[in-house]
Amino acid sequence: MNQYKQQFFIPEGIYLLNHSVGCLPQKTASQKEHFFELWKSQGSEAWEEWLSLIDGFCQSLSTLLNGYPDEFCPQSNVSSAVCKILHSLPPQKNRFKLLLSEMDFPSIGFAFSLMQRLGYQIEFLPANNGIFSLETWKQYLTKDTQLAFITHAVYGNSFLNPVTEIIQYAQEQGIITVVDIAQSAGVVPINLRAWNADFVVGSSIKWLCGGPGAGFLWANSETALNFAPIDVGWFSHENPFEFDIYNFRYTNNARRFWGGTPSILPFVCAQLSMDLINSIGVDKIRFHNQRLTEVLIQESQAKKLNIITPLEPWQRGGTVVINFNNNQKVYERFQQEKISIDVRPGFGLRFSPHIYNDEEEIEKVIALMQPGD
Ligand SMILES: Cc1ncc(COP(=O)(O)O)c(C=O)c1O
Repeated sequence: MNQYKQQFFIPEGIYLLNHSVGCLPQKTASQKEHFFELWKSQGSEAWEEWLSLIDGFCQSLSTLLNGYPDEFCPQSNVSSAVCKILHSLPPQKNRFKLLLSEMDFPSIGFAFSLMQRLGYQIEFLPANNGIFSLETWKQYLTKDTQLAFITHAVYGNSFLNPVTEIIQYAQEQGIITVVDIAQSAGVVPINLRAWNADFVVGSSIKWLCGGPGAGFLWANSETALNFAPIDVGWFSHENPFEFDIYNFRYTNNARRFWGGTPSILPFVCAQLSMDLINSIGVDKIRFHNQRLTEVLIQESQAKKLNIITPLEPWQRGGTVVINFNNNQKVYERFQQEKISIDVRPGFGLRFSPHIYNDEEEIEKVIALMQPGD
């Protein structure tokens, strides 16, 4: 039996929806009580320790992603972090283009489209079957571009963009870079120092098993002070306890992107889960995931199914996506057998094994797929 199964609450059946919501670790469920204990016993006096719990969340992110704690700012989700970044851009006369891709998560497109109100032009990298070479990126990273949004692992097909190379080229052109790691954090090793982007945004709900509400924004300490968010509050202030309504001064790190009174509990849960993920090790999770996804891919190929995830292991995140002739019919077959997966229009069925899944489960999944499906 897979030793990690006992460390998580896993819904009945076979759970392969880790690209959507990672399972709750037992430790997270039992230890989150600390938050309530502080509230119970200290009331308003709990703030000091509650805020130190946020520092703990940022510390765990630093361990996970190789950053520094004060480069992280808690956010409720990726969409809100992206909106804050877009509205913090320094005015640049000859750079009116914002670049993203048709394969980014739709939220990102929504946030970008509203920037047209401010005179920006939005440009999408065409979907191109969800595969983007560095050469394609280079064609679009033109001198009139102010910012490029790069999704690390694409939600629809799990393609891994060549982030390091894109950032390097973008920087040579003077373009600001934002990387979305919502779909890769926890299953693909990430080294923020090596990337050296301007911003990285993500959330804890998927492979990090940290639940909803614990998003984050990482801002490069070399460039963070060039950005002036408009969505602010007293926790974005250099000294939140100054209480001078006429004198707002941004704090001098990523936390200028914070806002008003922050939520705490989601970050407590996320940190407990992230510490478990860190103790298991993302390298190990990646290795295990690739072993299972490789079996799934090879057996699906043998059945002549239409796999839309890149076949090269280094080019894919944690998910295998298969586009069946009748996705809904196959989806219902899996539902009946209590195999949890989902279907994304235009892409197909998504299968995402985590550290607590095993080969036996993958064999059951494969047995349900029929040649010609
Ligand atoms: C790559 C990617 N980015 C962003 C999101 C959504 O982010 P949020 O709901 O935190 O705004 C998702 C959700 O599935 C995603 O897959």
